[in-house]
Amino acid sequence: MKRTLGCCYYPEHWPEAQWADDAARMADLGLTWVRIGEFAWSRIEPEPGDLRLEWLDRAIETLGAAGLRVVLGTPTATPPRWVIDKHPDMLAVDAKGRPRGFGSRRHYCFSHEGYLDECRRIVGVLAQRYGPNPHVAAWQTDNEYGCHDTVLSYSGPARQAFRSWLRGQFPGQGNAGDIDALNRAWGNVFWSMEYRTFDEIDLPALTVTEPNPAHAHAFRRFSSDQVTRFNRAQTEIIRQHTDAPIAHNYMGRVTEFDHFATGADLDIASWDSYPLGFLEDRVGADPARQRAYAHQGDPDFQAFHHDLYRGVAGMAPQAREGADGPPRFWVMEQQPGPVNWAPYNPAPLHGMVRLWTWEAFAHGAEAVLYFRWRQAPFAQEQLHAGLLRPDSVEADGFHEAAEVARELADAREISATQAPVALIFDYDADWAWTVQPQGQGLSYFALVFDHYRALRRAGLSVDILPPTARDFSGHRVVLAPGLMHMSDALKTALAEADAQVLIGPRSAARDAHFTIPVPLPPAWPGLDATVARLETLRPDMPRVLSTGGAVQHWFEELESDAEPGLTLDTGAPVTVTSGQVTYCAGWLDEDGMDQLVARLCAQAGIEALSLPEGVRIRDTGAERFWFNHTTETVDTAAGRIEPAGVVRQPR
Ligand code: GAL
Repeated sequence: MKRTLGCCYYPEHWPEAQWADDAARMADLGLTWVRIGEFAWSRIEPEPGDLRLEWLDRAIETLGAAGLRVVLGTPTATPPRWVIDKHPDMLAVDAKGRPRGFGSRRHYCFSHEGYLDECRRIVGVLAQRYGPNPHVAAWQTDNEYGCHDTVLSYSGPARQAFRSWLRGQFPGQGNAGDIDALNRAWGNVFWSMEYRTFDEIDLPALTVTEPNPAHAHAFRRFSSDQVTRFNRAQTEIIRQHTDAPIAHNYMGRVTEFDHFATGADLDIASWDSYPLGFLEDRVGADPARQRAYAHQGDPDFQAFHHDLYRGVAGMAPQAREGADGPPRFWVMEQQPGPVNWAPYNPAPLHGMVRLWTWEAFAHGAEAVLYFRWRQAPFAQEQLHAGLLRPDSVEADGFHEAAEVARELADAREISATQAPVALIFDYDADWAWTVQPQGQGLSYFALVFDHYRALRRAGLSVDILPPTARDFSGHRVVLAPGLMHMSDALKTALAEADAQVLIGPRSAARDAHFTIPVPLPPAWPGLDATVARLETLRPDMPRVLSTGGAVQHWFEELESDAEPGLTLDTGAPVTVTSGQVTYCAGWLDEDGMDQLVARLCAQAGIEALSLPEGVRIRDTGAERFWFNHTTETVDTAAGRIEPAGVVRQPR
């Protein structure tokens, strides 16, 4: 498949006289795609019902005439002021009960029916008009669901919707719901929290101390479902008017909604990759690592999301129906220079914009679009680089994009292949850990990411799969750490998989409604292991392994006669293996994690490498891609690689 480039463009920000020149320069640069429209509602409909689409017609025509293909965004992330005036209670409300104000973006509550109707209406207008337009070759719904902490809303409409959602979870006679079943499932006898009707249930906020974790977790499941519902309302309308593929642009480390669920209604999973912003803002790296990678970004964070969203793309209707070709995944926004929103905003090391682009392609991206075409001299993102400076002179990122465009012109095709290792990522588990971390700062995302990093240090390519995966054929190792609730179907599929399977810590530790099951966890078929007691550890008090390395953060004492693998220096088991399943009873540090990965690979008969710091590889069907994320030249099995260098080695 031919890989393509593009950019994000805001015709409404620039004089119309400039559009044709911009379009010609984009085409000259070698761009294929241009995404527009996703924040333009106030120009499309300045007053209720006063539709002004002629400018958008002309913008699409100008871009299309230059040979560009348009991705049209629905503008629902930025409802204009008049929408708020019409629906004053549509603003999302934070956990302290404060409405989130107008004046930036994403200020809507997913549960507000009136706002959802406004969205259906404006999406319908756009889909009807531009669905048949030959230049509009793809669509984007909304913009970055969940960004700026916008999934959870504690509004009145959310409370009403939560109550009816709960009735559906605990069905009774008619639409009444079975409140006794909810009380039993949640254990509401504790602290006299029993309800008499569903209408007594509030949202889990403003309680004196923590709310019932079952209640808090249910609210997170509900909130995620509201995002899926909101997105589906748009895709259903767009599909009535076009066969063009529909995408949404996800974010890095936004876990408040189940992306696999939204992905089932979309054709393309795309995401917005800001490596330097993320390093400072959400990777969770220590200060030394942040310094070492300040200008390159974390060597694993982008790759993790490429693999995650390739997995999300696997949920698309065509992918589920077994269409030919790999799942469709894109980078909808790629950082081209310094951003404006992280604690510090360094400039990329020369070559990194090119590296990030090739890395995305190596992980399966069809297209990479740079954000944005030209830096805006006004409003919130004045200090965010574009491919052009505000004076339209080419910025550094432009030259690197041009280099990739030249390379793509005569590049070998990148063929896809199945990775030897699968890692399950479960949003529901992330909510469960968030609701009950049991130790300050502990998160499911961080646990999974630590496993992913270790796999990458060992040079392994990874497929990230949803917890609904049942077919693991082709994967030699499957990792499913930290899934606090596991369906019986997943347990059975893993127990029957022809692969080395890693579970724990905290696997199958809760039933569907957040109660500790008896027999005690993990109660795994064929594995003699019971978590007898667990403790979380102060950061400065890790438990030392007998082979070097340590257990940090989380440790479970096992009752087990299964074969021990890694042990503490006291002799207590940390991993136990029975047949093809290994249970890990702690959160291992880097050294411990490397030992665990080496053991799993040895058991599975696959080669584990030990890559130099900051060097990462990704295997495709015909090639091994090497990426040097460091500021030094590094000697590798593929030869010397310059800082920010990319090497394509035939396999
Ligand atoms: C993204 C967002 C864009 C822009 C960009 C700046 O999260 O989708 O609209 O704000 O960040 O880095």
